Amino acid sequence: MKIFLETFGCQMNEYDSELIRSILRSHDHTFVEQLDQAEVALLNTCAIRENAHERIYHRLDDLKGRKRRQKNLVVGVLGCMAQNLRQELAEHAPIVDIVAGPDSYKRLPQLIDSVRGVGEKGFDFSLSEYETYSDIAPQRQPGVNAWIAIMRGCDNFCTFCVVPYTRGRERSREPQNIVAEVHRIAAEGFKQVTLLGQNVNSYRYEQSDFADLMASVAEVPGIRRVRFTSPHPKDFPRKLLHTMATNPKLCKHIHLPLQSGSDSVLDRMNRTYTKRELLHLVDEIRAIMPEVSLTTDIICGFCGETDQDFEETLDVVRRVEFDSAFMFKYSQRRQTIAERKFHDDVSEEVKTQRLMRLIEVQRDISKKRNLTEVGNTYEVLIEEPSKKDPNEWLGRTDHYKGVVFSDDSVKPGDFVQVRINAAGTNTLRGTAERQGWRRLPVMASPAACCEH
Ligand code: 5AD
Ligand code: SF4
Repeated sequence: MKIFLETFGCQMNEYDSELIRSILRSHDHTFVEQLDQAEVALLNTCAIRENAHERIYHRLDDLKGRKRRQKNLVVGVLGCMAQNLRQELAEHAPIVDIVAGPDSYKRLPQLIDSVRGVGEKGFDFSLSEYETYSDIAPQRQPGVNAWIAIMRGCDNFCTFCVVPYTRGRERSREPQNIVAEVHRIAAEGFKQVTLLGQNVNSYRYEQSDFADLMASVAEVPGIRRVRFTSPHPKDFPRKLLHTMATNPKLCKHIHLPLQSGSDSVLDRMNRTYTKRELLHLVDEIRAIMPEVSLTTDIICGFCGETDQDFEETLDVVRRVEFDSAFMFKYSQRRQTIAERKFHDDVSEEVKTQRLMRLIEVQRDISKKRNLTEVGNTYEVLIEEPSKKDPNEWLGRTDHYKGVVFSDDSVKPGDFVQVRINAAGTNTLRGTAERQGWRRLPVMASPAACCEH
């Protein structure tokens, strides 16, 4: 069959689509770039916020029209939304033939066969305690970075979050199996791996913890950079910070989701840390890795959030000075603890006002932090042509700053020394330094810069 697969949502979904491609290709299906050419249309979906659902329902409306013209088109909804809205999708979206949750991808060939063969719709929402797809080699798009899921699911049950319900219980892959896959990734020419998990730093397999795994992955020849996402602040023991600090292949960037700066909101969210503990962790991280960059996720307008609670969030944001942040309005999700226990009582208007204010505060901080980079020289890994000007490159520093520069003698995957000469809110601009040309010392931190 000719399959069109569209992916919505997070990196884990992108990665799952690579697994789905591999599973279906091994059953002689092929993939097409255009929906017009497809016999099967699969949407790999996200359920994290309401706007993700809306986008997918919108896409299903398009497919409804298409199915009127192409009667035998098979439509499948996969992933988190499939798991979260299974009943609704099965009953109210008659155009949907297949619904399969995140642990059911191996059954897809069978589900497609039964729709095409006997015209029977195929639904599989079972969640597994064991499925890690460690026996499937994902069909990666060639590039600079390879994603690799080291664990799946989440046991944290943050009260706002649907993930523990859509992706099930936490389970980690065997380290030997992960390292063997990283060897294959290196042999395919990838320079960077990003370890993925819903709660990546709670990785544990028998005696191996996340720090041990990071160190083993970094030993793989050919891999120059190792990143990870997304961690939880509760799982940053000193051992992990020291491992990161002392191993040059482990990138000095931590995405540290704050969610809120107010103790009472953090408690209602079941985040298991207080404002003070989070600030202490940030101090500890920066003491051990002064050059680290920190990014975060923040939710505005969670149930019961007062103006004072929101001020606490702004206070943490101002004190920590994250390099950048993903900021969201709270969106009540079905099945979650917050839906059952609390009222979604902050008005849409107030959520929007708080979000706008937060974005403004963070924007100034991002710009200010980026400006301190001017004058530094960094090793930049080239990712792709810049979206704004394809004659320029977009690359990243070890500490995850996007850098735009021009150099016609290099290509994606190359490492280039770039001197930063301008800074915006989101990216830095620089000039490539030629080998044998004026070679400045690599400055690790703004503090090092000021001493010159
Ligand atoms: N509403 C708004 N944002 C949410 N996130 C998770 N669930 C919700 C929700 N119900 C955000 C969190 C998380 C990021 C991936 O998405 O900030 O860290
Ligand atoms: Fe959701 Fe919390 Fe698990 Fe992250 S740690 S996936 S926010 S429940």
